[in-house]
Amino acid sequence: MLMGMTTMHTRTLGTTGPQVSALALGCMGMSPKLYGDADRAESIATIHAALEAGVTLLDTGDFYTMGHNEMLIGEALRTAPAARREQAQVSVKFGALRDADGGWNGMDGRPEAVKNFAAYSLQRLGVDHIDVYRIARLDPAVPIEETVGAIAELVGQGYVRHIGLSEVGAETIRRAAATASIADVQFEYALISRDIEREVLPTTRELGIAITAYGVLSRGLISGHFTAGRQLAPNDWRAMTPRFQGDNLQHNLNLVDALRKIAEQKGVTVAQIAIAWVLSRGTDIVPLIGARTRVQLAESLGALEVTLDAADLAAIEEAVPADAAAGDRYPASQMAHLEA
Ligand SMILES: NC(=O)c1ccc[n+]([C@@H]2O[C@H](COP(=O)([O-])OP(=O)(O)OC[C@H]3O[C@@H](n4cnc5c(N)ncnc54)[C@H](OP(=O)(O)O)[C@@H]3O)[C@@H](O)[C@H]2O)c1
Repeated sequence: MLMGMTTMHTRTLGTTGPQVSALALGCMGMSPKLYGDADRAESIATIHAALEAGVTLLDTGDFYTMGHNEMLIGEALRTAPAARREQAQVSVKFGALRDADGGWNGMDGRPEAVKNFAAYSLQRLGVDHIDVYRIARLDPAVPIEETVGAIAELVGQGYVRHIGLSEVGAETIRRAAATASIADVQFEYALISRDIEREVLPTTRELGIAITAYGVLSRGLISGHFTAGRQLAPNDWRAMTPRFQGDNLQHNLNLVDALRKIAEQKGVTVAQIAIAWVLSRGTDIVPLIGARTRVQLAESLGALEVTLDAADLAAIEEAVPADAAAGDRYPASQMAHLEA
């Protein structure tokens, strides 16, 4: 298995955006009540190890356990060596309205809400600017021009550097890009989640916008470590997700077994094949790896050393055809908030 020293490459977030590490770290699973429990000390050690390995971009959302994730990143940045802290770039999603008991109450993309969310995020993160700022889902009651326009004002004031989008369709991307420069669109993209190939990716490519890809391991399902017998905790969101349930789960794990044969032949791991495949789809795509331990991080970074040639790509495509997954990628209530 490829582990240990890797060379960090860089990619650019769109024609107007910043240069970032080719692999970014998604920190969501480091907060409790998302993927079950989380280990605070290990989470901070993982962020430090990522920065040490040359990862620059850290992704979070202000609603990930109601500010918990931002405060965790804030602590990791405060306790990192100065040089590492200075190289860090933080990407923040906002807009989701929460209940104290964890419930979800839709989105708020009104300009005054955008400015309010940002003020709190800056404080929790302990930074003077946010590198990339985006609404997590479209607020259907607020034209995207108004939401993006408010972020553009924050750019003008120096509180935000770049503007992103998340899980929106081609038309919204065009309208947003006509309002201000858009660096990247965040979207689920993995061997078993290929929706963006239909409309979103051709649109972002036409407009010179990058993709930051999440769920590259389909939230651990195609990590190669997930087993049918694993009991997900009641506070693990994945337990509610169709892909992790019943016959769907077994079907999807059979796809992982097919992938495992290819990984073994190449002397790499399933997770490394899955991440390397997303990396191979274009230099405009930056995977947000969801590692929450140093061991997972080291394995994931090993994907940077995996080269997939035409024969490998054909074998992967045969093992896991584009629409091979069983079950939606979100529970039905949350699918309703996805535009594309
Ligand atoms: N824009 C959006 O709508 C949106 C939505 C979701 C996420 N995101 C962002 O994208 C980031 C990544 O998403 P994700 O966390 O779902 O990604 P992911 O990489 O598909 O899944 C992460 C999970 O997979 C398992 N895992 C990760 N690396 C592994 C490894 N090397 N070996 C074994 N298991 C591994 C871990 O679960 P176990 O430890 O339980 O095995 C981990 O919590 C998030 O942190 C968040 O910042 C954005």
